[in-house]
Amino acid sequence: MKVFVTGGAGFIGSNVVDLLVENGYEVVIVDNLTSGRQSNLNPKAKFYQLDIRDPQLHEIFQHERPDFVSHHAAQVDVRKSVADPMHDASINVLGTLNVLEAARKVSVKRFIYISTGGAVYGEPEYLPCDENHPINPICQYGASKHLGEHYLYMYQVMYGMNYTVLRYPNVYGPRQDPHGEAGVVAIFTGRMVEGEPITINGDGEQSRDFLYVGDCARANLLALRVDHANGIYNLATSQATSINELYQTLKKITDYPLEAAYGPAKLGETRHIYLTADKAGQHLGWEQTVNLEEGLRRTVAHYKTHERAKASA
Ligand SMILES: NC(=O)c1ccc[n+]([C@@H]2O[C@H](COP(=O)([O-])OP(=O)(O)OC[C@H]3O[C@@H](n4cnc5c(N)ncnc54)[C@H](O)[C@@H]3O)[C@@H](O)[C@H]2O)c1
Repeated sequence: MKVFVTGGAGFIGSNVVDLLVENGYEVVIVDNLTSGRQSNLNPKAKFYQLDIRDPQLHEIFQHERPDFVSHHAAQVDVRKSVADPMHDASINVLGTLNVLEAARKVSVKRFIYISTGGAVYGEPEYLPCDENHPINPICQYGASKHLGEHYLYMYQVMYGMNYTVLRYPNVYGPRQDPHGEAGVVAIFTGRMVEGEPITINGDGEQSRDFLYVGDCARANLLALRVDHANGIYNLATSQATSINELYQTLKKITDYPLEAAYGPAKLGETRHIYLTADKAGQHLGWEQTVNLEEGLRRTVAHYKTHERAKASA
């Protein structure tokens, strides 16, 4: 079986590719390497360096004729989506539509679309958010990612294309960019291992649902294997972890000797959010397998062996 993974050179996409290859799938990656890295590419996967908006994508689909698509490529930066909503929509809406059109023409068996539980629900009306929670994104990124979900529903009705939407929570783990604007685990890990100062935004009591990237990858595998995996599924730990708790756990793991400073809160940031993944448990047989402390240990170990090695190379 052949799987077409867009964004397969990125943080989460590359972890998905590795698991699929490990499980005997033939994998084709399309990525334009804007935030993805060549070093993340699995050598057993075929790689096309291309923008998902490029009309040439259709020729690649015709040539490769994949059975499945796992669509991870996206403009993922919330702040960039606010600063340049046209650019965000051109990738997340028009790019997604281009992938969908190319996939429809070769009649893929299933289209897995990666959405975001952290950004589509907006300020939660109740917790944990389930899939029926009102959709009220409060940033352009949340709106553009949600639009893809509408297209999928429509493509199923119009063309009979099966789909699975996975709404990821805050994902962390190996290969997340420690120098990015987002990804608090990667940023804290990098700074703590290097012994650099850390500033926590606001009082640190804001909380998130942190899921290890390997568990996201496994959900993609299950979505390919389970015939009735049609619909929208949250992935989640169903636990709210405050930034202060996260900081303390990482401090312990890395033996970080400094104390964090506290800075101004980020405007427009949701105070508390966590999700429930009961539906993914019932329909996909998915559950979290790596708890936060274990996931953080693996992330720190990866940072020490890979990121530092790269920096000193
Ligand atoms: N990281 C999280 O916590 C999180 C949470 C919810 C959802 N998601 C979703 O997961 C997916 C992967 O995110 P990530 O965190 O791994 O980010 P990432 O930036 O590491 O991965 C995105 C990948 O897409 C590629 N890409 C971007 N624009 C492209 C384009 N126009 N054409 C081709 N390739 C392009 C990038 O080069 C990169 O490899 C995204 O769809 C994102 O919205 C991530």
